[in-house]
Amino acid sequence: MAEHQVLVASNRGPVSFERDAHGNIVAKRGGGGLVTALTGAMQLAGGLWIASAMSDEDRERARDGHFDVDVEGTGYRLRYLSFPPATYDRYYNGISNRILWFLNHYLWDVPRTPRFDDGTQRDWAAYRRVNQSFAAALHDEAGQLRSEPLFLVQDYHLSLVPAMLRKLRPGALINHFSHIPNAGPTYTRILPTAIREELLAGLLGADVLGLQAEVWAENFLTACRILPGTRVDFRRRSVQWQGRTVRVRVYPVATDTESLEAAASTEEVASISRRLARWRGDAKLILRVDRTELSKNILRGFLAFETFLRRHPRWRRRVRFLALLNSSRGSIAEYRQYMRECMHAAGRINAELGDDDWSPIRVVVGDHFPTVVAAYRLYDVLMVNPVYDGMNLIAKEGPVVNRRKGVLILSENAGAFSELGRHSICINPFDVLQTAEALAQALEMEEADRGRRIRGLRAAIRRGTAERWVRRQLDDLEAVRLLREGRGST
Ligand code: G6P
Repeated sequence: MAEHQVLVASNRGPVSFERDAHGNIVAKRGGGGLVTALTGAMQLAGGLWIASAMSDEDRERARDGHFDVDVEGTGYRLRYLSFPPATYDRYYNGISNRILWFLNHYLWDVPRTPRFDDGTQRDWAAYRRVNQSFAAALHDEAGQLRSEPLFLVQDYHLSLVPAMLRKLRPGALINHFSHIPNAGPTYTRILPTAIREELLAGLLGADVLGLQAEVWAENFLTACRILPGTRVDFRRRSVQWQGRTVRVRVYPVATDTESLEAAASTEEVASISRRLARWRGDAKLILRVDRTELSKNILRGFLAFETFLRRHPRWRRRVRFLALLNSSRGSIAEYRQYMRECMHAAGRINAELGDDDWSPIRVVVGDHFPTVVAAYRLYDVLMVNPVYDGMNLIAKEGPVVNRRKGVLILSENAGAFSELGRHSICINPFDVLQTAEALAQALEMEEADRGRRIRGLRAAIRRGTAERWVRRQLDDLEAVRLLREGRGST
């Protein structure tokens, strides 16, 4: 058996299990940037991936301990951890999705929410227990290896793992990567004092903390000042904590352009494209692709389109807005309410501005990647207007396969903005009027300008690769190893 060099921990694993029509358990590869990027790490260095069992079928597989699976030509060595459903719910919905996600995307309606009470304390205790199980499993796995592995801990679900693992294994080489924004000190101070301090101290157990963009790294460094006992060095981007130096680094996650291009050239995508092109007719196409998520700003996107149609009536019947939405976190009431508002707005706009032959907005809720890729090929304008977003990979995927010199409208609060902002139309995502005028500018842009922009986008997107993203993190951890052994320089 190959030696594990890298131990990855994330809440959602790269593969989920479900039952087919015959009752057999089958493996399905999970989507999203996290899986793509870390699959690269596994292939590069070899290793084991520890994740939570999220479905009954996952839990069944988890009983076997380690297992190997092959999905779509990629092999994984996995270990899934099972938790009692009530504990998992408190950790995943209670803390990760309702508190840490809301916090880091500034989603609270602060006059009313949040309200922390003894339910929060129980949720936090469950969050701690799950994080402790991950730390124990990582320690246990590392103990079976001949040399000290590199630990790659992912995201806000596992913020306490670095400090817990450090306690079990003082010499561990730990990277923690946040795929989401960091809210900075003022908003972080909303959290109960003991929780925010435990959270920051949890992360600072790592040797290197990675974030998607400079702005989130700066927020994090400033937030560290609210934890008594830290010394933050902004110039070196490091934090002194409990006698150790914790480095804060920026690793923008990349998209896998090769597999996107391969997906775009399949017959299935071509046939969906033809169908979509018939529906679009001679009109121009505005596209958005999102999980149904509060931070994605779907509602203001629709309102901006409405404003655009009212201010530029010559575009009526000459443009269509397609929203491909992938359902997310339906167990959270705020998400269900938000989706109702989005659907209601789309219906009202269609009723007020559309007619028998032309519906301005079409919303498709589903999870069908070939349809997304087909729509990427066809858009004239891609609207990516999140209120806040760690990176946003839609902004990096669309331009790679688009065939119409489509223009990207991009929120200045998406992590992708630092790499792609120069080649897109920049918007403040709260400014509906500005977004409406951005639509007009994008639709009326000269072909030469559109061509220049999409070339710029593609070049910027291709500069990053999943392999480079992982390589840089592994190299930075190796540098820490050399320093510890007295063989490196700061
Ligand atoms: C988004 C974020 C990831 C996060 C994931 C969790 O994709 O960018 O950082 O891990 O959401 O989503 P889930 O569906 O697993 O709750």
